[in-house]
Amino acid sequence: MKPLRIGIAGLGTVGAATAQVILQHGELLAKRAGTPIEIGAISARSRAHDRGFDLEPYTWYDDPSEMAADDSIDLVVELIGGSDGIAKALVEKSLAAGKHVVTANKALIAHHGTDLAELAEANNAALYCEAAVAGGIPILKAIREGMAANGIRKVYGILNGTCNYILTEMRDTGRSFDDVLEEAQKLGFAEADPTFDVDGIDTAHKLAILAALSFGSKVDFDGVHVEGIRAISPLDIDFARQLGYGIKLLGIASMDGDTVEQRVHPCMVPIEAPINLVEGSFNAVVAEGDFVDTVLHEGRGAGGGPTASAVVADIIDIARGHRVPLFGVPASQLPAFATRDMAKHYGAYYIRFNVVDRPGVFADVAHALSKHNVSMESVLQRSRDPDQIVPVVMTLHETEEASMRAAIEEIHSIDAVIEPPVVIRIEAL
Ligand SMILES: NC(=O)c1ccc[n+]([C@@H]2O[C@H](COP(=O)([O-])OP(=O)(O)OC[C@H]3O[C@@H](n4cnc5c(N)ncnc54)[C@H](OP(=O)(O)O)[C@@H]3O)[C@@H](O)[C@H]2O)c1
Repeated sequence: MKPLRIGIAGLGTVGAATAQVILQHGELLAKRAGTPIEIGAISARSRAHDRGFDLEPYTWYDDPSEMAADDSIDLVVELIGGSDGIAKALVEKSLAAGKHVVTANKALIAHHGTDLAELAEANNAALYCEAAVAGGIPILKAIREGMAANGIRKVYGILNGTCNYILTEMRDTGRSFDDVLEEAQKLGFAEADPTFDVDGIDTAHKLAILAALSFGSKVDFDGVHVEGIRAISPLDIDFARQLGYGIKLLGIASMDGDTVEQRVHPCMVPIEAPINLVEGSFNAVVAEGDFVDTVLHEGRGAGGGPTASAVVADIIDIARGHRVPLFGVPASQLPAFATRDMAKHYGAYYIRFNVVDRPGVFADVAHALSKHNVSMESVLQRSRDPDQIVPVVMTLHETEEASMRAAIEEIHSIDAVIEPPVVIRIEAL
């Protein structure tokens, strides 16, 4: 039987682990794929670096995009990363040459997924990216195939293990965001440059892919409202607990008519909600289908082994001849839905502000809220010594985001309110 020959571009955390899975499970994979899966070519920046396996048997490319012209390669595995540059060039050239492509690159698919899916279909090639969303959790296949009978109106999840680890540690130890981030970097759980993770961009990449697949629409990364977790303090986590909530960074996408809302921000979720029980570096995705109801998948969202598991599952599908369009329907048939402006978001809110406790402050705050038709549900205050700076926490009944923002701006302008208020959206999940 003719083997499926693959070229692996990128031999870092995921690339080296992918090679190891293929070398270690060769026989098992051949049975499952119906044909042997062979590594034919490899590429990375440094040829001298130890990758944990012998590089000698394979054709080495200094320039990975040359794999696209290698007739002995059927499938290119792109594990370099980045939304543009060499990764994009390699994927485009490979698809244009009719080669199948498997990638773990969420940035690439979030920015160029629709065009790449069209290119794949035009050249009769398969393009899969299971590892790009929630690492080892097979959520794309579950939504695309397992839930194919359903209309999906909402999909949400914990999509970044670094943020979930930081929030879990802050909750358990009472330490600050900066402290826990620094420790996570030392332990290798967070990148030296944590921006993509802690500012929510990585979650937004994954959410844009999930939304396109769930709603059958073009990928719209620019339509995602993005906030990260830097503003969350142990104080907020403690107040949230008193109110019966946990704090999670969620990506949430929902469709209403022809309008899609995609948002990434810290959320207060009921303490007993299944998503709140997802701890540490784990990921979870919940998809709501109109016939199946709610489906939750949980597992490891990153790391060499889990991510390689998803990469190799895609390779096996292609080896078997199993082809489904990347977003469930042909890319040329994907509509571009309108984005719902975050100002029109309707929800409940937690607000914390620090205030010099003096007579009349609460009347001013209440006035600012009522002026913008925002009504308070509850108030928590730590201490009431006159002239002390005290944190005040309020939860607000459901209201439009624009009204809440206007009220917050007014509260911030009261001279006794000494810092910008912290706002966390409360989700009834
Ligand atoms: N790490 C995870 O847990 C995880 C999870 C899900 C998805 N992903 C995605 O998987 C992809 C790879 O991530 P990773 O963590 O494995 O990254 P990584 O450890 O930094 O590895 C990147 C690899 O690309 C190679 N490379 C960089 N520029 C190159 C170039 N111009 N030509 C040839 N090779 C080049 C590097 O070579 P050298 O080794 O020689 O420097 C390295 O082997 C990314 O898209 C990432 O978003 C990662």
